[in-house]
Amino acid sequence: MPAQVISGKILSKEMREKMANEVLEYQSKGYRLPHLVVILVGDNPASKSYVSGKEKACMEIGIKSTIIRLEESTTEEEVLALVNKINLDDDIDGLLVQLPLPKHISEDKVINTISIDKDVDGFHPLNVAKLHLGEECLKPCTPKGIITMLKSANIEISGKEAVVVGRSNIVGKPVAQLLLDNNATVTICHSRTKDLKEVCRRADILVAAIGKPRFITSDMIKEGAVVIDVGVNRLENGKLCGDVCYDDMLDIASYITPVPGGVGPMTITTLLENTLEIYKAKVIK
Ligand code: GUN
Repeated sequence: MPAQVISGKILSKEMREKMANEVLEYQSKGYRLPHLVVILVGDNPASKSYVSGKEKACMEIGIKSTIIRLEESTTEEEVLALVNKINLDDDIDGLLVQLPLPKHISEDKVINTISIDKDVDGFHPLNVAKLHLGEECLKPCTPKGIITMLKSANIEISGKEAVVVGRSNIVGKPVAQLLLDNNATVTICHSRTKDLKEVCRRADILVAAIGKPRFITSDMIKEGAVVIDVGVNRLENGKLCGDVCYDDMLDIASYITPVPGGVGPMTITTLLENTLEIYKAKVIK
């Protein structure tokens, strides 16, 4: 049987409709709108495009979004002062500083300055610590979205062998933690892993977050595996492709996520979910 496609696009649409209705309901009860602020420094084209996507998604479901676009030459002090000001603004629920930042601004310092209660990305060290301690916290969007996708397809995680390829702080490490929280047996692979193919072939659930186009080939996958492709790679012809050889997997995998239309839309949907979660905890009595 060919692999079933887990569409992040369709799932996102359903989740966003539900969230839009929730926002309408709160509005009709007289509550203010949820509010997300995004800070974008400089003019990195990929970042600009991601930020526009986030703005559009907020608009779609009735979340107020404010995009603060700052010049490349903005100083670290100016960014930190802005973050501090937003932290104190009770009418702002979520704050996201788009990465990467220009070289003269310390990403660590900026992330450390964001209030942990407004940290919709779940990047603040205290939220990271809470995630790894199993405490309630804001969870990073891509990993959380992946778990939502697996659950939406009724894929059993408990007791399964999960292999994560990639060890970034944004995806690899947190998704491994969330899979572990769901009782998977988790292996994290990276560029120094020996016998990568053999390790990947053990996976019941494989998460590819390497950032190399079509890196995961069909001989690296076990028959019936669930394949989650986090990669967003732009090819020379301008097309997007994932970290997985998608077409070759269709006869081997049991489930697969497409690129585009898979994990990407779910990352943004989870950002909306996190913003709403903060809003509800703060505003709804
Ligand atoms: N740049 C690439 N991905 C992300 C993300 O998830 N959050 C932020 N803030 N910046 C990013």
